[in-house]
Formats: sequence, structure tokens, C-alpha cells
Amino acid sequence: MNGKVIVTGGTGYIGSHTAVELITAGFEVVIIDNLYNSDISVLDGIRSITGVTPKFYDYDLCDSQKLEEVFGAEGKVDAIIHFAAYKAVGESVRKPLEYYRNNLTSLMNLLEAMERHNTTALVFSSSCTVYGQPDTLPVTESSPVKDAASPYGYTKQAGEVIIRDTMASRPGQKAISLRYFNPIGAHPTAFIGELPRGVPENLVPYITQTAIGLREELKVFGTDYDTPDGSCIRDYLHVVDLAKAHVVALKRLLGGENKANYEVFNLGMGKGVSVLEAIAAFGKATGVRLNYSVTGRRAGDIEKIWADPSLANRELGWKAGISIEEAMETAWRWENKLKNKKS
Ligand code: UFG
Repeated sequence: MNGKVIVTGGTGYIGSHTAVELITAGFEVVIIDNLYNSDISVLDGIRSITGVTPKFYDYDLCDSQKLEEVFGAEGKVDAIIHFAAYKAVGESVRKPLEYYRNNLTSLMNLLEAMERHNTTALVFSSSCTVYGQPDTLPVTESSPVKDAASPYGYTKQAGEVIIRDTMASRPGQKAISLRYFNPIGAHPTAFIGELPRGVPENLVPYITQTAIGLREELKVFGTDYDTPDGSCIRDYLHVVDLAKAHVVALKRLLGGENKANYEVFNLGMGKGVSVLEAIAAFGKATGVRLNYSVTGRRAGDIEKIWADPSLANRELGWKAGISIEEAMETAWRWENKLKNKKS
């Protein structure tokens, strides 16, 4: 056993894939999740892949008493990976205070609990959204953090600052913020994957739900951008590659290989892919023709962004290697599995 790790938001999309990789790497995983945006059946998926059902607390991190209960029951906790947060960009514009309260209160409660219980390592789920629309591409970790496009984005910026300042005040503790680009795909076993509630906001679940007949057509939000084919460009990486980065980040902290007590890494493939190219990749990977049409731009969309992941490649020894076609294929396998479960 490598140690005990609390994974907040561990039944969510990235959290569940990370729980699998942690268990596979020999960590004991304890999940805290209030199931606001995830399903308890994810625990079965994790067990089907790893043979282990992680300990689970259906608790809200905004309730610091509940957090005390977890630490009281679990004894020594070596590290925390903090995923739990509201994450819908559009919703955050409509409900800013809910986003600020939930995402920041939960983080501050965790940081306080870490100190009380002498947990020394934290990995934080951040986002490339902190860069806003960068002036130069690809973005490195030293690219300026610009105005975020949404309250959600500001919660990630503020979360990073809160962690940085807290770590600066606590010599015995250390943290890493991981800035994800666009995670897609599902576990190759199709036991876990993305489970959007209601109409998906993100591109790939919208593609797979359209292809399977749950949605009539995919709307491409704008082909009048200053990009080669006019559609927006993102850096899509497979969720299993992303999950593995958390394991190496954690080992870096626990092994004392970190170069500062607060570090930041971009996690992406380092390759920009347009919306139209992503649609083509889905067709190539699955042979399924997708019904889509072009509509107007979506408010708040960044035109183009992709990562320079060389710092993570070098320092973490991590590289995203799963292609977008493979990612689309696993997302499609997962969508089919969901359909079969329902019917
Ligand atoms: N898109 C469509 N049609 C859709 C959905 C998306 O054309 O139905 C386009 C978007 O306009 C965008 C691209 O597909 O150009 C990717 O959109 P996503 O919603 O999948 O991803 P975003 O890049 O907008 O947002 C993601 C995460 C956020 C995070 C952000 C960081 O969902 O949590 O990356 O930039 F903040």
C-alpha cells in the first residue's frame, strides 16, 4: 500500500478514472462525494475494473463537521486529490454565488482539515480556463492568467491562489495544481465514463448522444473564428491519460521530488484540434455518420487554446499518448454501454 488518499468528487468523471489509477498503483482510496453531479453506481464500475470498492462518504465538503467525521474515522490520511466542484460554465454565469460559495468553501474547509489532521499533500483539479484567451499559443505555465470567461473560471483562479498562499504559510505542506485542457473519452473497459446530467454541455458527450439517437443533431457553435476551418480549437486529451497524471503528481509530492511547495502543470496533448476535426475523428474512429449543422457562436467560448505540456513531460515524466480517435472510440463504447443498460 502506497498510502491513503482522500479523493473528493471521486464518483465524478475525472475523479472516478483517477480512483481506478490510484487503486491500480497501490493506493487506498477514500471517496467523498455528495453525488450532486454523479451516481453511486460509479462505485460498481470502479470495483469491476479494479476488484476494489473504495470507501465512500456521501458528504458535502461545505459541511466542515462532516469532513471532521471523515478524518476522525479514517485516521492518518497521506494526501488529498480535490476534484469536487461545480463545473458548468454556463450555469455559473446564471448562479455565480452558488459557484463561489460551493467551490471555494469546500476548498477552504479541506485546507483547514488538512492542517488539523496533518495531511501534507494536495493535488488540485484546475483548468486551462485560468488562461482566458491567451495571446500566444501554445500556453505554458508562465503564460499570464487573464480574465476568466465565467464565474466557474474565477473559482479555479481563486482556488489556485488560495492554495498557493496557504502553502506559502505552511512549510510542512505541499500542493500541485493540474491545469486540464479538454478531457474526453471513457475507460476502455466501458465500466466508467462521463455521465452528464440532462443535456450535455460538452462536445464529446453531445456527439455520442447525437450518434446514438438521443439528440437530433449536434450544433457546431460557430465556423467564423480566426482558425483554419473557422471552428474553435481545443486540446483534447484522454481521461485515462489525465487520471494517470494525478498518480504521478501525487507520487512526486509524497516522494519529496517537488521543487517548490506549490507547483502548477499544464495537462494536454500539446495539439490543437478544431471542432470540425473532432467530429471527423469521431466518424473515422466509429464509422458512424454524425448529424450536425453549424449555428452561431456560444457566449463565452475561447477561440483557440492548446497546451505546451513540456513541463509535465519533463518534471512528471508524464505524456498524454492516447489519440483522439481512440478517445472517441472509447466514448462511443461507453455510450453504447449506457444504452444497453437502459434497454
Ligand atoms: N461545442 C460545439 N457544440 C456543442 C458543444 C461544444 O460546437 O454542442 C464546441 C464549443 O463551442 C467548443 C468546443 O466544442 O469550441 C469544446 O467545447 P466543450 O464545452 O466541450 O469544452 P470547453 O472548452 O468549452 O470547456 C471545457 C470544460 C470547462 C473548462 C474549459 C476550459 O468543459 O470546464 O474547457 O477551457 F473550463
